[in-house]
Amino acid sequence: MSGDDFSGESIVRNHVDAGGRSLDALVAEARATLDRDRIVLIRDFPLDPDRYLAFLGRFGTPLANYSSRSDLAKDDPHPQINRVKYKPKGQYVKQSVHYVGGELRPHSARSWCDPRPAYFAMLMVEPGWRDTPEGQRGESVVLAWRRLFEELAARDGETFEAHLAHLTGTPVTFEANNVREELSHLPLCYPLADAAGPLDLGVRMKQDIQDKLPGLRDQIADYEGYRRALDYVIENAAEEKFQACFPMDSGDLLLLDNNRFAHGRRKIVGERPQDGGTAVNNRELWSVTVA
Ligand SMILES: [Fe+2]
Repeated sequence: MSGDDFSGESIVRNHVDAGGRSLDALVAEARATLDRDRIVLIRDFPLDPDRYLAFLGRFGTPLANYSSRSDLAKDDPHPQINRVKYKPKGQYVKQSVHYVGGELRPHSARSWCDPRPAYFAMLMVEPGWRDTPEGQRGESVVLAWRRLFEELAARDGETFEAHLAHLTGTPVTFEANNVREELSHLPLCYPLADAAGPLDLGVRMKQDIQDKLPGLRDQIADYEGYRRALDYVIENAAEEKFQACFPMDSGDLLLLDNNRFAHGRRKIVGERPQDGGTAVNNRELWSVTVA
């Protein structure tokens, strides 16, 4: 998927079937695709927390989930798995981005933490309502930072270079909303040891970094310039033409390079009237960060 061929269709086309394969065979095939494309979709993966973690354990160390390291409700399927599922207001005490119905703009897993986790994985357990309008089905979104940067460089030239200089040249330190972990002091965009080109950078993008930025003012020499650079990248990253988007089916496992890709999703409809009452969308996805 290097070069021009990067889209939701290309991710789906290059998928690997888990059905009937041994763990060793599946790992070997997934690794081959991951080495080439930095992202791999596996289909027909069993909805079993232990098998999911056994697979991911071949690529690194699955990190403890958020709730085990915070005061979020402890209702995840496994200590290393985050359950991403809509919760109606009133069914939680402490808000988490995992409960909401809005779109999730492209972001990195554990953007704050050091060392940078190598991989991020999502396993779709229950895709939820598919009869809602397109763009409101919780379609998965993936953004390849290198591809975005190369397109912006070609389009905007020096303007892009000036914005990128802010984001590569300014170390920042910020905390998670719910978790306490070792904090990274890298810039938001940072070099990779195995970079394939000048714009093949690592990125650690926090979902709500624009809201947090005023709190980082003391760390940033040219704050206004930095803010414009950040807004520029985030606004472009939010454009659908730069994103790969596809609906994940039950048993779809997406494993991606967390330095080189951001992940997100389109909106979901959380609740709707049904039989005189209110039905709640049962969409459920299990996410894991792998260091
Ligand atoms: Fe996420």
